[in-house]
Amino acid sequence: MRIREFQRAGALHGEIEVPGDKSISHRSIMLGALAEGDTRASHFLMSADCLSTISCFRQLGIDIEEDREADTVVVHGKGLHGLSAPLDTLDTGNSGTTTRILSGILAGQAFQSQINGDSSIQARPMKRIIRPLTEMGARITSLRGNDCTPLEISGGHLHGIDYLSPVASAQVKSCILLAGLYADGRTSVTEPSLSRNHTELMLRGFGAEISSLPADEYAASGAKTRPSSSKNDTADRSRMSGMVPWRAEVCPEPQLRGQDIIVPGDISSAAYFIAAGLIAPGSEILVKNVGINPTRAGILEVARDMGGQIEVIREYDRGGEKAADLLVKSSSLHGTTIEGALIPTLIDEIPVIAVMAAYAEGTTVIRDAAELKVKESNRIATMTENLKAMGADIAPEEDGMVIRGTGFLHGARVRSFLDHRVAMSMAVAALAAEGTTTIEDADCVLISYPSFYEDLEKLI
Ligand code: S3P
Repeated sequence: MRIREFQRAGALHGEIEVPGDKSISHRSIMLGALAEGDTRASHFLMSADCLSTISCFRQLGIDIEEDREADTVVVHGKGLHGLSAPLDTLDTGNSGTTTRILSGILAGQAFQSQINGDSSIQARPMKRIIRPLTEMGARITSLRGNDCTPLEISGGHLHGIDYLSPVASAQVKSCILLAGLYADGRTSVTEPSLSRNHTELMLRGFGAEISSLPADEYAASGAKTRPSSSKNDTADRSRMSGMVPWRAEVCPEPQLRGQDIIVPGDISSAAYFIAAGLIAPGSEILVKNVGINPTRAGILEVARDMGGQIEVIREYDRGGEKAADLLVKSSSLHGTTIEGALIPTLIDEIPVIAVMAAYAEGTTVIRDAAELKVKESNRIATMTENLKAMGADIAPEEDGMVIRGTGFLHGARVRSFLDHRVAMSMAVAALAAEGTTTIEDADCVLISYPSFYEDLEKLI
C-alpha cells in the first residue's frame, strides 16, 4: 500500500498540459486495429487502462508499435476481418471501457474468446452488454453465472437490431455499434440522453456510415434518415440541455481506413486542476489542450454555474473533436443542482465536483447519477466516507448525494478504494484543507494519469 501525504498548499500557479483523453486513446487502438492500413495516434494516453487495450489487441494478432517517450502509438490495422483467435483469456485489467467495447468486437468474430479483468472488473455489471449482444445472435456466457466477467464469447452471424438502452452509457452504445459493423443489417442504439460520442465521431472519421441524432428527429423524418458519412448532425448543444433520447445508427461492413489522430487532453484529468484552481485561494492556472467535446464538458457548465471563473483562451479542432486552453482563477463557489442530461457529460468528474461542493457556500444536489455505484468503486459511498472524514456535511442518496458546503475541510486519513478518480479527488480536497491529509493506496492513479502527483506538485 503506497500512501501519500498532503498539506494545505496555498495559491496554485502555472501552466499544465494534461495527458491524452482515455476514451479516445482506447478507441484509436480499437478502430485502428479494424481499419485497413496504419493508424498513428499521438498524445496517446500511456496509462494502465490503455495499455490493457493494447495488450488485448496484440493477443488478437494486431501489431502495435508503442513509443512511450513520445506518447505515440502506431497500429498496423488488418481490416474488419483481420483479428485472429487469442491463445489465452484476454486480460482487460481495471478497464471497463476495454471490457465492454472489446466484447462488442469479439461478438462479431467467427472465433471463441474469453475476457476477464481484475477483481474490480469482475464485480462490474455486464448484463448491460450481454443482453443486446445476445439479441444480435452472439452466445455469451458469464462463466460464474453472475452476469460479470469472466465472459466466454462465441461470435459471428450477427443480426442488426434497434436497441433501446436503459442507461446513457457510451460503453454500452459503443459495444453495440462496433458489433453492428459485423451484422447483416443496420444497427441502432437509442439511449435516454446523449453519452460521450467519441465512437460515433471516430467511426465517421475512419469512413463508416453512421448517424447520430435526437430520436424524435429520427421519428419525425419518417425513419428515413439514413446513416451518412458526411452529415455532421451529432451533439447539437442546444438539444442536449434537456433529457432528449438520442439515436445512433451504423451500417455494417464498412471499409475503415487508418487515420492520423491527435488525441486531445483528457477533460476528466483536467478536472482536478480546474477544481484545485477554483478552490485554492489566489490561484491562477492555464490548463492547455483540453478536449471540450460537448458530450464531455459538463464540468465547465457546472463550475461556471457554481460561480467559477473559467475562460476559454483558444479553441481549436482535433479531427472533429474540439479542444481548448482554459484559464482558471480561484473563485467563491456556491451550491448548485446537477441532474438529468448533464449527468452523462460529467459522470467521471462527480467525485471532484463533490469536493468543489464541499468548499462552496450552500447546498449542492447531485441526482440521476445511480451509475456512480457501478464505477471502479461505488463512488457515492466512497466519496461520502472520505469527505465525511475530512469534516464535510455530505449525505448519500440512492442516485447521488447532497453536500452542504461549509467552505472548510480538515485533513484526515482517507482511502482511494483503489479507484483512481477517488484518489485524485482527495488530493484536490487535501490542497485546501487545514492540516495533513493521508491518502491510502494512492498509486492507483496510474490507471488514467500516471504523472498526476508530479504534475500537481509543479503548480504548488
Ligand atoms: C467511458 C464511458 C463512461 C465513463 C468511462 C469511460 C467510455 O462509462 O464513465 O470512464 O470511454 O466509453 P459508462 O459508459 O459506463 O457510462
